[in-house]
Amino acid sequence: MLRIQFEQTGGPDVLQAVDVPIPDPGPGQVRVKQAAIGLNFIETYQRTGANPMPLPGCPGSEGAGVVDVVGEGVTSHKVGDRVGYAAGAPVGAYAEYYVLPAWKAVKLPESIDFNTAAAIMLKGMTAEMLLMRVFHVKPGQTILVHAAAGGMGTILSQWATSLGARVIGTVGSAEKVAVAKANGCAEVILHGQEDIAARVRGLTNGKGVPVVYDGIGAATLEASLDSLGLRGMLASFGNASGPAENVSVQRLKFGSLFLTRPGVFDYTSNPEELNASANTVFEAVAKGHFKVQVNQTFALKDARAAHEALEGRQTTGSSLLIP
Ligand SMILES: NC(=O)c1ccc[n+]([C@@H]2O[C@H](COP(=O)([O-])OP(=O)(O)OC[C@H]3O[C@@H](n4cnc5c(N)ncnc54)[C@H](OP(=O)(O)O)[C@@H]3O)[C@@H](O)[C@H]2O)c1
Repeated sequence: MLRIQFEQTGGPDVLQAVDVPIPDPGPGQVRVKQAAIGLNFIETYQRTGANPMPLPGCPGSEGAGVVDVVGEGVTSHKVGDRVGYAAGAPVGAYAEYYVLPAWKAVKLPESIDFNTAAAIMLKGMTAEMLLMRVFHVKPGQTILVHAAAGGMGTILSQWATSLGARVIGTVGSAEKVAVAKANGCAEVILHGQEDIAARVRGLTNGKGVPVVYDGIGAATLEASLDSLGLRGMLASFGNASGPAENVSVQRLKFGSLFLTRPGVFDYTSNPEELNASANTVFEAVAKGHFKVQVNQTFALKDARAAHEALEGRQTTGSSLLIP
């Protein structure tokens, strides 16, 4: 089968398309013949070594397809089941076939097609975690979402808007303003060009926001903290610009702030949590709380070009790799 792997960590050019034997599932596992694979920023951390993994490594944590073999002892799944997954371990979804623990292979409702599933299993459940559990967004609140035109950003902005929040989004270029607005942002700030915190204060009568969802990391850390209102929460959930580091505990005393660094796999760490989160996402899609926008599709063998586009900030919405 075709598998994307890297012998050493580095830039997108370390990604190679190789031919390897199709893996067999062990006890308690299923094998998925993949129809679509989600492209996520986290895979750039896998490739660069920011998220260390054994070499040769194969990136990838999200996808969808059909179960084609079940391992010993598996009774929950059968051959032919349509499934989707967001699996932190084992990493390695950039392949035509993928083996994972059966409990992590979520059965898809008929209404969710493979491309949609491959775009929402990781990003949708992360949005559910952020909007409903890390901080529970309520109608009437004004919130700040960074990288609002990206994969996570377009889902967060739409879903939060449907929950009744007013979303201030940030984007990195003028071309992305329209994307953010089309996805529910009431206001859009150009990060890197405008003073984010000053704009947020201006848009909130000086109060600041109760929550900031920050997947950019280093470049926006200070502005995110400065944008919070009293007892506000910074949910720092990613590092697209590099890790957000060195926040002093004393820094949080100005406004009695909360800081958390949530990861979706810690919020879907058992079958109950995983299925509850996935079902909330499926229901939100069915009810139209957010629409999945697959704006870029790459052949799996072109994963390198996909990483270049993602890291080059050339993508909007979600992207897929098709085996
Ligand atoms: N914690 C979790 O469980 C979890 C789960 C899923 C995703 N995430 C995180 O969520 C974030 C978004 O992921 P995604 O897959 O949806 O990616 P994405 O938002 O589609 O792409 C990343 C975006 O970050 C912005 N950005 C700002 N500074 C950047 C820089 N120096 N280099 C590259 N991009 C930069 C760019 O948008 P602009 O051009 O508009 O700035 C870019 O489009 C990532 O940090 C990811 O790690 C976390």
